[in-house]
Amino acid sequence: MSAQTLPRVFVSRRIPDAGLSRVTAETQADIWPDDMPPARDELLRRVEGVDGFLSLLTDRVDDELLDRAGPGLRVVSNYAVGFDNIDVPACTRRGVAVGNTPGVLTETTADCAFGLLMSAARRFPEGYDYVRQDKWKTWGPLLLLGHDVHHATLGIAGFGRIGREMAKRARGFDMRVLYYDVQPATPEEEARLGATRVSFDELLAQSDFLSLHVNLTPETHHLMHAETFAKMKRTAILVNASRGPVVDSEALYTALKDGVIAGAGLDVTEPEPMSGDHPLLTLPNCLVVPHIASASHHTRGEMARIAAENLLAGIRGQPLPAFVNPEAYAARSA
Ligand code: DGY
Repeated sequence: MSAQTLPRVFVSRRIPDAGLSRVTAETQADIWPDDMPPARDELLRRVEGVDGFLSLLTDRVDDELLDRAGPGLRVVSNYAVGFDNIDVPACTRRGVAVGNTPGVLTETTADCAFGLLMSAARRFPEGYDYVRQDKWKTWGPLLLLGHDVHHATLGIAGFGRIGREMAKRARGFDMRVLYYDVQPATPEEEARLGATRVSFDELLAQSDFLSLHVNLTPETHHLMHAETFAKMKRTAILVNASRGPVVDSEALYTALKDGVIAGAGLDVTEPEPMSGDHPLLTLPNCLVVPHIASASHHTRGEMARIAAENLLAGIRGQPLPAFVNPEAYAARSA
């Protein structure tokens, strides 16, 4: 097939070769070459007339973009498991298939969330700064005392795939595991993971560590705010590896500064990216990393493979291997 007859796609950043090589072999691909995402105007220009769009979580896919892409757009394949950047109903109405990358990043993300929990509990970043600043002159009986992880209570908000992996990790540390989710796990699953479902208020009150694993929806936007922080233990540590806007950053700043809670470990922030002069970064008890929970070599390769498979299936009008809106096809034929 000549390049002219191959389907046209836009890929809004370089992704690992495990997926990119298939996309370039089977489509006429326009790949955004920079590390920074295309500006909105540029993005809108690039999607004009494409058959498929391989998007990142930094790209907003809404009516405006879908209008610009035009009726030939068949699929939006998001290089992420989360798809809060995409107006899925708008895609469905136009018969545009939406794909994501579930499953492959579950354990990698839980590893990172548990690492944030450990680092915040035992104050690793403060210890590292202390050594780098040449303050380490002797062993100190009261130096950088933190919180025990073992035998503490882990509260998990959002008991999906990643939340459940957190529960598995917690068992290795003999933790008590509580969870809150609108959808209860089966009794067998609760027994397997040693997890007990409680109300959200109970989760706030009982947790020594509260780890957030909910999707970002209108209901979970600012789930953590001044009043919810006030219901937590003063010794508690918050971990967020879900989406930044689940936590009200201003309220978190106040809670950490005033000792309403003891610490936080964040993979995601509001705003994102967080600039280096953000007030949260002035606090020694707030650890922030730049949305890297899925960032292992293997996992990012797997995400690329699935994103490519979703894109290519969508272009052919086939069911996507990871299909967010299968009803889009019914809308197309209606
Ligand atoms: C996702 O996939 O939604 C993560 O936030 C990035 O891997």
